[in-house]
Amino acid sequence: MTSAPPPGSGPRVLLAYFSRTGENYWNGGRRDLKVGNTKTLARLIADRIDCDTYEIVAADPYPEAYDPTVERNSAEQDDDARPAIARDLPDLGKYDTVLLGSPVWGSRAPMIMSTFVEKADLAGKTLLPFVTYAVSGMSGIDDDYRTALPDSTVLDGLALRGEEAADAGTELDGWIKKNRLAT
Ligand SMILES: Cc1cc2nc3c(=O)[nH]c(=O)nc-3n(C[C@H](O)[C@H](O)[C@H](O)COP(=O)(O)O)c2cc1C
Repeated sequence: MTSAPPPGSGPRVLLAYFSRTGENYWNGGRRDLKVGNTKTLARLIADRIDCDTYEIVAADPYPEAYDPTVERNSAEQDDDARPAIARDLPDLGKYDTVLLGSPVWGSRAPMIMSTFVEKADLAGKTLLPFVTYAVSGMSGIDDDYRTALPDSTVLDGLALRGEEAADAGTELDGWIKKNRLAT
């Protein structure tokens, strides 16, 4: 039996995510996103569960325009780069569970997610990946985290089309219930 957290110790779940504003794919065309799709989804999750939230912000921001972002991401993938994160990483000691969100970029998580999972101490934590995408679904990103984090338990992830993130409430409720994230 797990013991209850001491009063005042705060949430045991951290929601960490990366998302990009600016020009992006949208139903076969392009749209200028004031709030990134993954951030929209992260906000809906945070509204539903007791969690702390940490936004992974790139020290060198990605371009507003879509094509240069694709080019930079391709170069970062080719170089196996670890783009720097702008802010201090959260202290993970108090969390049992980490929800890890990002878009799909080039059929993988953005390389800055590798920066995060390698620098944050995720050993012994339960990870729940979630992604937003245009066409390619989870793209094996949960398996990539399993490979990168052999000392963590990586559960099956949630993958949603970016265009549907704002309307994902019902699906999210099911996911939250299935993974016992509600308090
Ligand atoms: C650099 C880049 C690469 C992308 N690569 C893919 C991809 O491989 N597969 C896919 O389905 N969507 C891809 N997309 C679309 C995004 O995954 C999708 O629009 C996502 O919802 C964006 O989330 P965000 O607004 O939180 O950044 C890509 C978008 C960008 C900017």
